[in-house]
This record gives sequence, structure tokens and C-alpha cells, in this order.
Amino acid sequence: MSRFSHLSRRQFLRVLGGSVPAATVGAMAGLPALVSGCERSVVASPSPAEDRHPLRLAPEIEPQNLTLTAAPGTADVGGGVEAPVWKLNESLPSPLLRVRQGDRFRVTMRNDLPQDLILHWHGLAPPDDMDGHPRFAVPPGGSYAYDFSVEDRPGTYWYHSHTHMHTGEQTYRGIGGLLLVDGDEEEGLGLPGGEREIPIILQDRRLGGDGTPVYTPFGPDRMAGYMGPEPFGNGIRRPYLEVDSGLYRLRVLNGSNARIFRLARSDGRPLILIGNDGGLLEEAQTVASVEMGPAERVDILLNLDGAEPGEVVMIRSVSFSLQGGMGFMGGANLQGQPLDLLELRVRERAPESPSLPTRLSTVGGPDPGQAVRERSFRFDSRMMNHFINGRSFQMDRVDVEVPFGDTELWHFVNASGLPHPVHLHATHFRVVSRRGGRNRVMAWEEGLKDTVLLLPFETVTVAVRFTAHRGLYLLHCHNLEHEDMGMMANVLVV
Ligand code: C2O
Ligand code: CU
Ligand code: CU
Repeated sequence: MSRFSHLSRRQFLRVLGGSVPAATVGAMAGLPALVSGCERSVVASPSPAEDRHPLRLAPEIEPQNLTLTAAPGTADVGGGVEAPVWKLNESLPSPLLRVRQGDRFRVTMRNDLPQDLILHWHGLAPPDDMDGHPRFAVPPGGSYAYDFSVEDRPGTYWYHSHTHMHTGEQTYRGIGGLLLVDGDEEEGLGLPGGEREIPIILQDRRLGGDGTPVYTPFGPDRMAGYMGPEPFGNGIRRPYLEVDSGLYRLRVLNGSNARIFRLARSDGRPLILIGNDGGLLEEAQTVASVEMGPAERVDILLNLDGAEPGEVVMIRSVSFSLQGGMGFMGGANLQGQPLDLLELRVRERAPESPSLPTRLSTVGGPDPGQAVRERSFRFDSRMMNHFINGRSFQMDRVDVEVPFGDTELWHFVNASGLPHPVHLHATHFRVVSRRGGRNRVMAWEEGLKDTVLLLPFETVTVAVRFTAHRGLYLLHCHNLEHEDMGMMANVLVV
């Protein structure tokens, strides 16, 4: 710690007005993963430095008059290993779509995969026929035209396949990318940009005998979801990135099917959290670690002031245990195991980071005090099946009707010993409270969210209001195996 300039560090934290909450510091201590009830445990081996590969950045494209063609192909997943993958426009990860708030989004999807396909713009609130509901999936050879205007807050969104019963497989094979919405308010803040902005999709993968990712869910994978011991970033196994000292903006998506990450820096310095699913927070917060379930995003500043050439900082997932969690065999036992996700190798000294304003944004969103109605959704997993309120998904059954514009309190009840990252389409909600388990709203759940992680036996209450469009949308678990097995409900906004 002493190698960092004390002066610049203090200044920086002062402008950002934060300190590390005691609770998250405690979490850093990390127990060895203790998903109980299984003798065989899979331990992620530490990565030897020579076995890391340069991070790839996705090509940036404007989603205007764009055709995205999905097709099978191969990609270098690190170290020259060519893996069979599914790509959009020949790219793994899928292209990064970058659009300005208020701009038109015009994309034609072409499906050259051997399966039906539909794409969903996760976190955006387009009209319902533009949202990628699985009822719009098109067969091989078909195409689907998207055309809407992006009214959503600037932020870190993403897109992926939403084909019923194939979302897990298609996303795992590569059909998914980041979608960044830019806007004036954000640009006025002077956040790090250009080379100092790093959009990254973090994923875990299981490798076959030839060293390429395999997707073969069976047995316990169908309960816990599909996990693997290898860290991937933007489609590259065990990635590293060369950086300079100073400030970086890391825009992170947990793009895993089932794995939860608890992100932290290896040097013990805090993460500076500036945004999440729904864009910037009101104020930056410094935290020792951040938990991310599948589909959650965080926008983080990394302060590398004072870092010396040759220094290495690892962005890792530190270990955690799931209290009350179920035990599993094999890959499914990986939840909570530590993982070295992204290695930052310091190249050169750069000028110290500029000060940033304390206040980042005005968040808005539904006010829980205005709620006119309450509903409960019970997420349960039994006998290799996953239910919401006791039912599994049916394409044409409306599960809940919600009046447009009303503020409601929704209670997401996790009645199982498995984590469920719960996601709602077409709006963002505010997390109001959590009972059971962690028993509080976490720092990274402030602001606006579209996905919230329920650990075993937690109940999370959110304030919800649909103000964009009427129509048929979805509420589901974003553990993709759970979703594919029916942990999904149709929400009709009337
Ligand atoms: Cu990320 Cu319904 O999706
Ligand atoms: Cu979504
Ligand atoms: Cu689930």
C-alpha cells in the first residue's frame, strides 16, 4: 500500500466522498468455498503468469442500419486455441453496440444458426415486439427487423439470445455482447474514456479435452446451473491487459450462465463503484468487493495512481459461501470458488488521475412510497425443476397483468437453497429491502436495477413501475439453465 502516493489517494477518495463499508471489508476475508454436502470439490488452480492471454476488445458498432448475422464458426479463445463457437458478424465476443440516448436503433438479425434464434436487448425498454420475447424466435435462414428509439438512461446494457429452451446454450456459445448507451450528462463528468474505458464480459467456462469450451449440462448442472473452472474475459481464457498508471473505467458484465462473482482487487485497494444496471449512481461509493450475479453490470473506477511499471493487479473473484445453500457434485460445486479473472499489467507511469465530481447523476425511478399494490413471486427449485409461483413458463399464458404507470411493490421470495438472479424486462426497479440472508440492500444495488441477486432463502422487495410501453414482457431467473427449464413468467403491461 505504501507504494501509492498517499496524497493523491486521499484527494481522490475525498472528491468521491466514500469509505469502505465494514460489512464488505469483512466479506473480503472470504471463507474457503463451503457449499456443503459434497466430498468431491473442484478447486480452481492459480494461473501461471505465462498461461495468460491478451484481452480482446469487441469491435464497436453503431446499431444503425446494421445487420447482425448469427452463424457457427471458430475463434481464438487465447493462445491460438481455435474453438468452435457461434458468432455474430464473425466476432467473439459479439460486437459492442454503442448508441446515444434518443437515437434510433435499427438492426436486422439474420439467423444462420442450426436453431431458432431471437435477440433481446437486456435492460432497454423497447416496444414489446422489439424486445426479443421468445415467441418471436425465427427459424434457421430467417431474419428479424428491430427498429425503435433508445430512450433509456446512459449506461452499460447488453444483448443476448432469448430463444426458449436454448438461451443457455446460445449465449454460452457466443451469442451475446455489450450495448453501451451514451449521453450528455455522463460525458460532462470527465470519466475515463478511450483506452481508459474497458468494456468487459466476464464468464466462466468448462473446457473439453481439446481445451475448448464445452456446453454439456446434465445432472447437477440442471439444478445449480452450468459452471466451469476457467475464467474468460471477452471470449479469451485467462486474460491480461496492459495498462498505465492512473484511472480506468471498467464496465463489467457478468455474462456467465450461473456463476456469481465477488469482484475485488488483489492489492487490497477498494473498487470505486459509479454505476450498475440502470446507469450511474447518484454518488460514487468505494467498496472492497462487489457481488455480481449473472446478467448484472457494474461500472467501476480503478485507481492505479502510483502503480509502477512491471506491477501487476489482479481483478479476481474472491471466495464466498452460500449460507443455507445446497451442495452439488462436480462443476456445480464451483459456486463461491475463487477465480483470477483479469490481470492488469502496468506498462508505464502516467499523470495522476484527475478529480471527479462527487455527484454523478440524478437517478429518479419508482418511489416505494407511492406504491398502490403488492405482489409476491416465489422462486422455487425442486426435483430438477424451477418454478415461479409454482408454475413453469408457457409461451402464451399471461402470468401477471400490471397497469401501466402504477407503482407496485414486488416481493421476490427465494424459497430454495439455490441463488436466483431475478430479471425484469421493459423497466428498471429500485431495490427497497432484503430480508433473510444478507439482510440489507447492498451498495451496488442502489440506483436502478433490472436484475437482482437472491441468495438462498432471501426475500428482496423492489419498487416497480412500467412507463415505457404496454405489451407482453418477461420476468425470469437469469441463471440460464433455470430460465431454459421454465423459471420465467409472462408479464402483460396493460
Ligand atoms: Cu438478459 Cu430476459 O434477459
Ligand atoms: Cu432482459
Ligand atoms: Cu434461478
